[in-house]
Amino acid sequence: MKAVVVQRGERKPRVVDRPRPVSDPGEALVRILRVGVDGTDREVIRGAHGGFPADADEMVLGHEAVGVVVEPNDTDLAMGQAVVPTVRSPTTDGDRSWFDRGESDMAPWDAGDFHERGITGADGYMAEYVTCPARALVPIPDDQVAEGFLVEPLSISVKALEQVSAARSAFDWRPESAIVLGNGSLGLLTLGLLNVGDRFDRLYCLGRRDRPDPSIEIIEDLGATYVDSRETPVAALPDKVEPMDLVFEATGSPRHAVETVEALAAGGVGALLGVPEDGEMEIDAGRLHRKMVLDNKALVGSVNSNSGHLATASDRLADLPEWLVERVVTGIYPPERLDAAFADDDTTIKTAVELGEYEKR
Ligand code: NAP
Ligand code: BGC
Ligand code: ZN
Repeated sequence: MKAVVVQRGERKPRVVDRPRPVSDPGEALVRILRVGVDGTDREVIRGAHGGFPADADEMVLGHEAVGVVVEPNDTDLAMGQAVVPTVRSPTTDGDRSWFDRGESDMAPWDAGDFHERGITGADGYMAEYVTCPARALVPIPDDQVAEGFLVEPLSISVKALEQVSAARSAFDWRPESAIVLGNGSLGLLTLGLLNVGDRFDRLYCLGRRDRPDPSIEIIEDLGATYVDSRETPVAALPDKVEPMDLVFEATGSPRHAVETVEALAAGGVGALLGVPEDGEMEIDAGRLHRKMVLDNKALVGSVNSNSGHLATASDRLADLPEWLVERVVTGIYPPERLDAAFADDDTTIKTAVELGEYEKR
């Protein structure tokens, strides 16, 4: 079968031939339809995040998958069921209690309790067939198979926004303004989620692009305001735009994480999602500490998602306007067109690699 891998010492994905995997008890065989690409995949390919499986010279990429069950084996899954898999899998010797509680997304990063498939320590889903324990497979409706690769990235925002609400649940929080930092796929999908309903009166999204730009057009068509970080740094938001009740960082810039404290309104909360490499900067720690305390601000870091978040994300995907999904997904490519699928240019927002076609049950 075809699999898309990154090999040690290389900085580009390639297609290789791999044997079709065989399920262990408790696992189903899934035929993969599409696998999305995000900033994390590009970080993995350039060696800035994650790592290869032990003793392996290559890793199958891909963590944003949608597929159909083709061999349920001894699981309760039905043949032909459309599914999206969770990203984390337990390590052989690790503490499995995170998985038993259904909260593997809260496991500590460095403890060795999990792999992240396609990211760190285990092969991912960008292959024609994969095996998965039933617990890792979340059923989705048949009519979501085409865009189902968006469920995992949406689940990242669902979880982070849950953490945001929890962090402000001890008082009568009435947010009006929210800004998403970053106009990549995570940023735009999150802006789409924040735009559903009328929780926020004013939405903003920060980027560093000149017009005309497809992401700026999406931001404005959502009714949000584009903020250019070259003219308005994050720390200047309160003076040049307004203090923000919610800041959702999806740029991966550590400066933005720190400056989020300045950008927040009193009682506001910042969600930090980026996964930067080490980087030093000078900060006024006294001012930052004082601002956090005197204005009751909160910062939450959030990573990964569990099967509950994936199920909610499938519901949220159904709430997003069709035009948004169509314009965020800028290309679906066969494995022969990896250059286009993994492109990082100003016309590419979210792409997916198509490994198989859906056949209705
Ligand atoms: P992406 O496609 O690379 O998007 C990042 C966006 O941020 C790009 O559009 C980039 O603009 C913009 N940006 C970067 N620096 C900026 C600056 N100084 N001012 C304004 N805009 C800036 O990545 P993604 O897939 O959306 O993911 C975003 C971040 O979240 C990444 O760091 C990724 O690792 C992380 N992430 C975390 C989780 C989690 O579980 N915590 C999950 C998924 C992703 P340009 O394109 O114009 O450079
Ligand atoms: C993935 C998450 C993962 C995180 C950190 C993100 O791109 O969507 O599932 O936990 O990267 O590796
Ligand atoms: Zn991701």
